[in-house]
Amino acid sequence: MMNFILRGFGSYAPERILTNADLEKIVDTTDEWITTRTGIKERHIAADGETTSSMAFESSKKALADAGIEPAELTHIICGTFTPDSMIPSAACRLQEKLGIKGQMCVDVQAACSGFLYALQSGRGYLCLEPESKVLVVSSETLSRRMNWEDRATCVLFGDASGAAVLTGGEITDGPRVLDVMLAADGSLGDLLTVNGGGSAYSYALGDTVGPEYFVEFQGREVFKHAVRNMTSISEAILKRNGFEKSDVDVLITHQANMRIIDAVGRRFNIPEERVFVNIEKYGNTSAASVPVALDEAVKTGFIKKGDLVLTPTFGGGFTWGAALIQF
Ligand SMILES: CC(C)(COP(=O)(O)OP(=O)(O)OC[C@H]1O[C@@H](n2cnc3c(N)ncnc32)[C@H](O)[C@@H]1OP(=O)(O)O)[C@@H](O)C(=O)NCCC(=O)NCCS
Repeated sequence: MMNFILRGFGSYAPERILTNADLEKIVDTTDEWITTRTGIKERHIAADGETTSSMAFESSKKALADAGIEPAELTHIICGTFTPDSMIPSAACRLQEKLGIKGQMCVDVQAACSGFLYALQSGRGYLCLEPESKVLVVSSETLSRRMNWEDRATCVLFGDASGAAVLTGGEITDGPRVLDVMLAADGSLGDLLTVNGGGSAYSYALGDTVGPEYFVEFQGREVFKHAVRNMTSISEAILKRNGFEKSDVDVLITHQANMRIIDAVGRRFNIPEERVFVNIEKYGNTSAASVPVALDEAVKTGFIKKGDLVLTPTFGGGFTWGAALIQF
């Protein structure tokens, strides 16, 4: 049985911070509403010229340094994102150029907020085919450029960031092991969370005005309900498939979409608050970047300790969802 080792982690968020107080000046909202409904206090916003691939470059450099692996050793670059710099080329190709390397397979994986786990599972697949692979699994999102800044229901929730990890084969002693990843989707619910503009179903022409459909739109309550239900059910399934009980989970790192969603999932697993990693107050929802940024912070701050079994459920547009089990 092959080991899937996460050799290094890295994360990055833009310098500029947008607080709830700043948002009070932009839309009809309050710090109190945002804090009690979501847990978010502030989020990071990309500077002019910063892009999904430039943020991915920053987090990837840190992950590679943490892993002790040179960029040129990489064999695959997989980027989970729904906000690539451009339709063509992919963010992964742009990132490869920034890393100053050539030849590796580069691909973007679009699974909205579940992008990191989808990218990680793809990386495990490539490793099975080519066991000597060194795979950069990175997620990066410039959500601030996909926000309708006149829509208070959406623009207060999201932020920009990137997180990365280097995945290789190896011995159990080489680092944290990805024991399993489970993924799922239900396309019949796709219309509940969308960015339709720019897609081929929406024809547009030179000179057209950009409408709200070019930005993130969702039905919050419906998304909330499905997020809790599906993150819970896939977490139960992955634990069962690997012979674990709920009580075996040492650390829970869910997708950071809403503090009330995180709490609800934690409660269903009877995981005490102090074992649930939360950084949503600093970043908001950074979509695919959420889980790898949280993993990096949880590792670097000592929140995750050697021997811990970590469960990371995630949920996003599509709908897509998934969970990974990582043994540190
Ligand atoms: C979006 C979300 C925070 C809204 O919380 P909610 O408790 O469901 O609130 P509702 O949408 O029912 O809105 C309640 C009221 O607050 C208002 N409201 C919405 N956004 C507001 C804001 N930023 N500031 C103040 N009031 C706001 C609504 O207009 C509504 O007013 P009304 O009752 O007069 O119509 C919550 O549903 C959520 O987090 N959903 C998941 C969304 C998500 O994370 N999606 C990404 C993919 S994982």
